[in-house]
Amino acid sequence: LAKIEIKLSEIPEGKSVTFKWRGKPLFIRHRTDNEISTEQSVPVESLRDPQHDNQRVQNPKWLVVIGVCTHLGCVPVANAGDFGGYYCPCHGSHYDASGRIRKGPAPLNLEVPQHSFVDEGTLVVG
Ligand code: FES
Repeated sequence: LAKIEIKLSEIPEGKSVTFKWRGKPLFIRHRTDNEISTEQSVPVESLRDPQHDNQRVQNPKWLVVIGVCTHLGCVPVANAGDFGGYYCPCHGSHYDASGRIRKGPAPLNLEVPQHSFVDEGTLVVG
């Protein structure tokens, strides 16, 4: 299936829910106000793969990323690791709540797929 439609009301604040999309895990994270302000204030020049949070999210409440570690392709675990976003247990890569690589061997941030909010409660990925 090329596109997936997600009802956002099913994802409580603070949770990251995993969907399957084009054969890969897709993480949709309903970020808390605290996560949003933390990620928006990270100095971009301190990052391995420098991207401001604004370049990664369309709506700060919602992070949409492919759940495949950019090191060797394991599936990271949500709400774990030193930066509270995702942690890849295969070789210890830590991602933040913007899906950006912060520590460990992965070279790049988690990929943000094409997505759009068709109305307040519906996200379409693809
Ligand atoms: Fe994730 Fe190696 S595959 S750290």
